[in-house]
Amino acid sequence: MLKKVFIKTFGCQMNEYDSSKMQDVLNQAHASSKTEDPKEADLIILNTCSVREKAEEKIYSHLGEYEILKKNNPNLLIAIGGCVASQEGENILKRAPFVDLIFGPQTLHRLPDLVNKRKLAGIPQVDISFPEIEKFDHLPPPSVSGSSAMVSIIEGCSKYCSFCVVPYTRGEEISRPFEDVLTEIIHLSSLGVKEITLLGQNVNAYRSFTNKGEPADLALLIEYISDIEDIQRIRFTTSHPNEMTDSLIECFGKFPKLAAHLHLPIQSGSDRILAAMKRNYTALEYKNIIKKLRKNCPSVSISSDFIIGFPNETDADFNLTKKIMNEIQFDFSFSFLYSPRPGTPASYIHDEISHEIKLKRLNELQLMNDAQGKAISHLMLGSKQRILIDGVSWKNPTELAGKTDNNRVVDIQADKSLINQFVDVTITEVTSKRLRGEII
Ligand code: SAM
Ligand code: F3S
Repeated sequence: MLKKVFIKTFGCQMNEYDSSKMQDVLNQAHASSKTEDPKEADLIILNTCSVREKAEEKIYSHLGEYEILKKNNPNLLIAIGGCVASQEGENILKRAPFVDLIFGPQTLHRLPDLVNKRKLAGIPQVDISFPEIEKFDHLPPPSVSGSSAMVSIIEGCSKYCSFCVVPYTRGEEISRPFEDVLTEIIHLSSLGVKEITLLGQNVNAYRSFTNKGEPADLALLIEYISDIEDIQRIRFTTSHPNEMTDSLIECFGKFPKLAAHLHLPIQSGSDRILAAMKRNYTALEYKNIIKKLRKNCPSVSISSDFIIGFPNETDADFNLTKKIMNEIQFDFSFSFLYSPRPGTPASYIHDEISHEIKLKRLNELQLMNDAQGKAISHLMLGSKQRILIDGVSWKNPTELAGKTDNNRVVDIQADKSLINQFVDVTITEVTSKRLRGEII
């Protein structure tokens, strides 16, 4: 039996979601509970990310720490899950032979089985296969804490951007059946969930069928979820520009429960670089999507992902990225230095641009985006916002904090009975990335 499980999660929201599922399957099979202290764990899981090299290297430094714990407690099991596990497989054992279990994002439901096999056989167990969507049929009903929950609706990615490792580590896109997703959300709402975030690497590539056999996409799913009375806010992430259909764009403004925020990765403002990245859209096409979105829902805030220093990105290319950032006025976004990933087509391109230049560009873009995010916060001053209060403010334990549609934390003076409730507030103050509000 496993009494205590410690899970360290790296990377994206999909990984956070997968970690909560690991905890659920282990709770069901071993009645184990979660611990925040690796020293008291019987099983330590590292749920890894291989999207960029830095994230990957962090894993090995943590493993060094856990190897010492294992020397003091030989019964301790150490597991590597997620994308590094999927990418490296048994090779992990060459660098860290003390690891007991290696499993991928699509085999996490087999964790209890792998633990048993490891104990019986006494040798490390590796399972990084991609069994078709089997995972969801073997997961226990989700456990929830609080009023927000994530629901994975599509796994994997079939876009194969030239720089990205995800299609190789998570497999091709597979959508979960429409009715299964709705059943899960209805179940979550019966447990007190009020805000749902639909997840997928390309969540807007979701395709399924209703129980009447009609084709169903993300727009239809949003329409059905809107009818679930207790669900009061719907979010979805991450989207791909090529999958922003008119029906999905029209959901903004049409369904009041859909948060007025969209995270839509652009990566670059240069058509030359976008083509080399195999993104299959141009900067103008991206701008047209935003134009249509803002026409339907003028208050929608847009955030994005940018890759700086893609091989042979020139000053002219970078200037085009700055240009589109100025034109669109993005909310707080993510920008990353390009990291060559093993086996991806872009990793074979010879690159002439120095690291210093790339860092300078990254810094410049981040400063620009920071200013844009702050400007959006200032525009919110005096406005009415709907927030979901998720708990006590970490800034001041006598206050509560909640999030707006565009993910800003608002501190308010309010009674604790309002935790997990939606309230309308007026924004009275803006400080860096936080806001202060008063209940209307
Ligand atoms: N589905 C999303 C989209 O439409 O682009 C992206 C999901 S990806 C896992 C998250 C982000 O990681 C990407 O948007 C990209 O900016 C970044 N990323 C992926 N591969 C990268 C690499 N090799 N180097 C730097 N950043 C990378
Ligand atoms: Fe990666 Fe492109 Fe898919 S960034 S997750 S291959 S859309």
